[in-house]
Amino acid sequence: MNILLFNGSPRRRGNTDLLLERIEAAIHQAGHKAEQINLARLDIHPCTGCGHCETEGVCIFKDDMTPLYDKIDAANRIVIGSPIYFCGITAQAKAFIDRCQALWCRKYLLGQIKPEREYRRGYMVSVAAADSGTIFDGTRQTVRYAFDAMECTFSGELLAGGVDGKGAVAGKPELMAEAAHLGQTICRKS
Ligand SMILES: Cc1cc2nc3c(=O)[nH]c(=O)nc-3n(C[C@H](O)[C@H](O)[C@H](O)COP(=O)(O)O)c2cc1C
Repeated sequence: MNILLFNGSPRRRGNTDLLLERIEAAIHQAGHKAEQINLARLDIHPCTGCGHCETEGVCIFKDDMTPLYDKIDAANRIVIGSPIYFCGITAQAKAFIDRCQALWCRKYLLGQIKPEREYRRGYMVSVAAADSGTIFDGTRQTVRYAFDAMECTFSGELLAGGVDGKGAVAGKPELMAEAAHLGQTICRKS
């Protein structure tokens, strides 16, 4: 199992970080490898809509996103985590997802679909100060489309509303247990 966890929160030891860490620990306990990638620590240029990837399938920018295309290609489980910022994902997570336009182009414009990748699954983790049922709706839609471009099936989510202070999730054992459970689920083959 090759598992990638993308962290879109710029806050170190924040809520997304702690939930992803718990998920990763459960994955390791199940005997699988996982790599957490902190998007806020990478240099990922925002997409400029130049259209290069529409014909070439690759991005004109060569930066920290460049090696991530191959990592995404090799993964069979991908987790995208982000806190809610102004009702959406963070700028760091959005820059990463927008650069996945190259993958969308490969799939939908250039027909570069790899049929053997049917077991690729995607999971979303998000936290927000608000505790309303709709606060995650926009983010779910964004992440769902990102997974489609990555040829992953959207397969589950961990959403934590009412979480604001740095590391507040650590004081919510039910959320940490949910994260551990998600880690186990991610490792399942069926
Ligand atoms: C710039 C900014 C915008 C935010 N916008 C929202 C928002 O629209 N709705 C909400 O419920 N919480 C919002 N929050 C609160 C964060 O989602 C919340 O603090 C979250 O727990 C942070 O997660 P982290 O510790 O993983 O970074 C915002 C926080 C920041 C810094």
